[in-house]
Amino acid sequence: RGKRAFIAGVADDNGYGWAIAKALAAAGAEILVGTWVPALNIFETSLRRGKFDESRRLPNGSLMEIAKVYPLDAVYDTLEDVPEDVKANKRYAGASNWTVKEVAESVKNDYESIDILVHSLANGPEVTKPLLETSRRGYLSAISASSYSFVSLLQHFLPIMNQGGATLSLTYIASERTIPGYGGGMSSAKAALESDTRVLAFEAGRKGKIRVNTISAGPLGSRAAKAIGFIEKMIDYSYANAPLQKELRAEEVGNTAAFLVSPLASAVTGSVVYVDNGLNTMGLAL
Ligand code: NAI
Repeated sequence: RGKRAFIAGVADDNGYGWAIAKALAAAGAEILVGTWVPALNIFETSLRRGKFDESRRLPNGSLMEIAKVYPLDAVYDTLEDVPEDVKANKRYAGASNWTVKEVAESVKNDYESIDILVHSLANGPEVTKPLLETSRRGYLSAISASSYSFVSLLQHFLPIMNQGGATLSLTYIASERTIPGYGGGMSSAKAALESDTRVLAFEAGRKGKIRVNTISAGPLGSRAAKAIGFIEKMIDYSYANAPLQKELRAEEVGNTAAFLVSPLASAVTGSVVYVDNGLNTMGLAL
């Protein structure tokens, strides 16, 4: 039987989540996605109307099928955690069962089990503010949406993951080197995510022989990255300074993801794997 993957953080055809979904689909996996509740309507409508058909095309000519789209808000673990104003918000009220625990239950009811869990989401409301000007609330929101969201997903999905399964998240070099402009506690959130990758690799490895890795990706002009504001500058910087002077395609991150969650990477866990044209290795730009 083919593998089944749940990919959290797909809401259009531009980001890393979409590229990972495609690479896994091309390798024969069944694709389930988790889409942020406020983005759900437009994503499902666009899918239905064929807006993504061109970007659904796989190397063998067929179109990627998404078996099911689950509404998800990964900052809430259970229904009891959801504040009244969010429950009442019409974008949220139109969907149901979107807390992490409920999504895992829905996937279990629909499909029994999964083999692959991908976390491709982040959010930091104060990302454009320097850390020195970031509020406690902004910092904790960044950590909640971008780091704890992975802990929570793994916590709730681990019981339905088949032995030998694998999980993956996406991180950014701002966790270990200063990237002015990547603010609001997002650099802290990525540092937490990378540290958690190691600890969770141990815990999930011992508990269910599940692997946990993270890809440190180079800059991509996704929707989330455009919200930060200086993505074009980062792309130009990378082009000028990386060992490989070429555009970084989302597909290249997708392909590495497919490798990391496959049996080809059966001894790789707890790792931060760079997919950035080698930019992370440079100490002096020439
Ligand atoms: P994206 O916009 O395609 O993906 C981010 C997704 O997170 C969106 O679909 C958004 O709806 C979703 N999201 C936000 N808050 C959520 C929540 N509370 N619950 C559920 N979903 C939520 O953008 P991108 O850039 O592909 O981001 C994917 C991952 O890649 C993120 O972890 C990001 O930090 C990471 N990354 C991105 C880089 C870039 O240059 N674009 C570089 C390195 C890492």
